[in-house]
Amino acid sequence: MKRKNLALVALLGLAAALSMAAREKEARDEYASRRARLLERVAGPVVLFAYGGQENVFPEATFWQEPNFYYLTGHDEPGAALLLIPQTEAAQTAGLPKEILFLPPRDLQRERWDGPRAGPEEAEARPQTGFEEVKPVSLLRSELERALEVFPRLYTLFPLAKPEYGPEGEASHAGRWLAWLRQATPLADFQDVRGSLGALRQVKSKSEQELLRVAIERSLEAHREAMRALRPGLHEYEIAALMEYSFARAGCERPGYGQIVGSGFNSTVLHYDSNRRQMPAGDVVVIDVGAECNGYSADITRTLPVSGKFTARQKEIYEIVLAAQNAAIAAVKPGMTMGRTGENSLYRIAYDYINTHGKDKQGEPLGKYFIHGLGHHIGLEVHDAGDGSRPLQPGMILTIEPGIYIPEENLGVRLEDIVLVTETGAVLLTASLPRTVEEVERFMAEARAGKK
Ligand code: GLY
Ligand code: MN
Ligand code: MN
Repeated sequence: MKRKNLALVALLGLAAALSMAAREKEARDEYASRRARLLERVAGPVVLFAYGGQENVFPEATFWQEPNFYYLTGHDEPGAALLLIPQTEAAQTAGLPKEILFLPPRDLQRERWDGPRAGPEEAEARPQTGFEEVKPVSLLRSELERALEVFPRLYTLFPLAKPEYGPEGEASHAGRWLAWLRQATPLADFQDVRGSLGALRQVKSKSEQELLRVAIERSLEAHREAMRALRPGLHEYEIAALMEYSFARAGCERPGYGQIVGSGFNSTVLHYDSNRRQMPAGDVVVIDVGAECNGYSADITRTLPVSGKFTARQKEIYEIVLAAQNAAIAAVKPGMTMGRTGENSLYRIAYDYINTHGKDKQGEPLGKYFIHGLGHHIGLEVHDAGDGSRPLQPGMILTIEPGIYIPEENLGVRLEDIVLVTETGAVLLTASLPRTVEEVERFMAEARAGKK
């Protein structure tokens, strides 16, 4: 093929790759400024690895990027790596670059199956990566060695210990790459960058706040669909399917987590997600469903009466959860924490309310039925990165989700809403969804009368 044709083919490939991109990306500067802020927090180069594609549990699963890698690059293809190098005097004297994105070589056969991919050879044709240097991933090791002639320390993600990945997380993505690094650059002093990355990810930029608002709005509409449709005789999975259709048709990629639609006894099982049961009148159903859109996940729960009307006991428990949630939301402001102890604990506010209102069938206080934390950050992961008990700061986005679960009464109630922390308090980002007993019952009655 002639040079001109080759260039044309490369350009067409590039156009196809762009049109296939599933996510709406943020501006290139966003990613670049995150990398710059990360470099301010470290005393040596940072190396990170994209997922390779084999992390998925079944072979032809849709590829999903490692969230820290995505946060810093906006790159959502497999097999890449990232090297960031602080521009100290010594680094500049040695001519070390500030950053390199390493990409795997293109595999034209594979692309017949998976579609066009970015390749290092198209670096000039891909200024949209926003990287000053793009190189083949085969050069990663030599570039690392070059950087380590100047810096003794190398920062990367240390694995999280999880039963499925072994006691040290050694079988996880981070565990495997740390092992590779230890063998490739044995003299480096390895440092964990997870804490620094988590701290950055917890405070959302304006454009991340916008992306989260999109995920939240589409999830709220899915919850309204559920409120419109709920009837005795429906199966839990029918509500889950309806909600997924609602946000998928609005352009969201997937549920942010396993959808929980639990009625009767299932309403008391925190992560019930088999959603098999047929729902009778008289039960409540806990609907904990949120969409992932452009990589960002919402996380919203409502507890609804299947019949359209709560019983007196359901209403009593619901209103205790609601008041506990309102008390916690009203107290959200910079400096408060999501931790379970300490004088700034929001959890404590919700727990104390629950434990001093209402009783179980044995006349005992209800605190022991609030069996989980008060909430968590959301973002690129539904339980987002970072220290969950760190004092709140403006720009953080969290769930506030108290619940009471009484298995012996087949009665679980959780309300989960999302707040943006501001300079002085919080904005409730889920305010447009019915939340009080009256609002829920009115909405369901109007929907049944064909008015919603
Ligand atoms: N949907 C999981 C949670 O609420 O944390
Ligand atoms: Mn949650
Ligand atoms: Mn949830």
